[in-house]
Amino acid sequence: MITIKTEEQLACMRESGRMTGDLLKYIGKSIKVGMTTFELDKLAYEYIKSLGAEPSFLNYAGYPASTCISIDDTVVHGIPSKDMVIKEGQIVSVDVGVYYNGYHGDAARTFKIGDVGEEKRRLVEITEKCFFNAVENLNEGTPLGDIGYYVQSLAEENGFSVVRALGGHGIGRKMHEDPFIPNFGEKGTGIRLRQGMCLAIEPMINAGTFDVKFMPDGWTTKTKDGRPSAHYENTVAITADGVEILTL
Ligand code: MF3
Ligand code: CO
Repeated sequence: MITIKTEEQLACMRESGRMTGDLLKYIGKSIKVGMTTFELDKLAYEYIKSLGAEPSFLNYAGYPASTCISIDDTVVHGIPSKDMVIKEGQIVSVDVGVYYNGYHGDAARTFKIGDVGEEKRRLVEITEKCFFNAVENLNEGTPLGDIGYYVQSLAEENGFSVVRALGGHGIGRKMHEDPFIPNFGEKGTGIRLRQGMCLAIEPMINAGTFDVKFMPDGWTTKTKDGRPSAHYENTVAITADGVEILTL
């Protein structure tokens, strides 16, 4: 069931969304070569707690941390670890969720650590552009399939591929609500977006093939070919004026 938020509920989504966006800015300033992903996760946890909020991911289906930190060929859901040190030349995707006043915000950025080289630089840039390409073409009444179409067409025009096995989702009182939002698809297909829907739109774009593999820890998702992958996500609301991005 797709939930439609009232103005009051949307006000709560804006608050958790703003916290999520601010947290990612703080992480962007804090992330440094030599840090472990465990240390970065701890910073996020403490930041969220200092706001009087809760990390959405911690204990979600048994997930053991407040963030997902996914480096290079890890697509998403990398578990922060004391053994994983951030190094020059990596692309590091940090995905966070903040639960406040009964509502979730969910967003991700891929950070470049120093000089990452041309391919990874382009991959990160295009992944971000894929999100905005979809959002710029959304309005009340837009078919859901248009999101996938605008993400996929831009990614593929640039020689990259779109992960098929995972996608975006509705969001609100629960982190994962209907509908599922594929990052590939046909324009003009699917349900129509309505005012009051809140969505987490999250392109996951691979430099090589779109195939992924799930690691034995039950979470970490990597590219099958070992080539890099980037992730960019925001929580958005469909409003009378178009799309409002809640987690920038
Ligand atoms: N943004 C990710 C998603 O929508 C969050 C994964 S959360 C976890 O799937 F708790 F499951 F890790
Ligand atoms: Co999400």
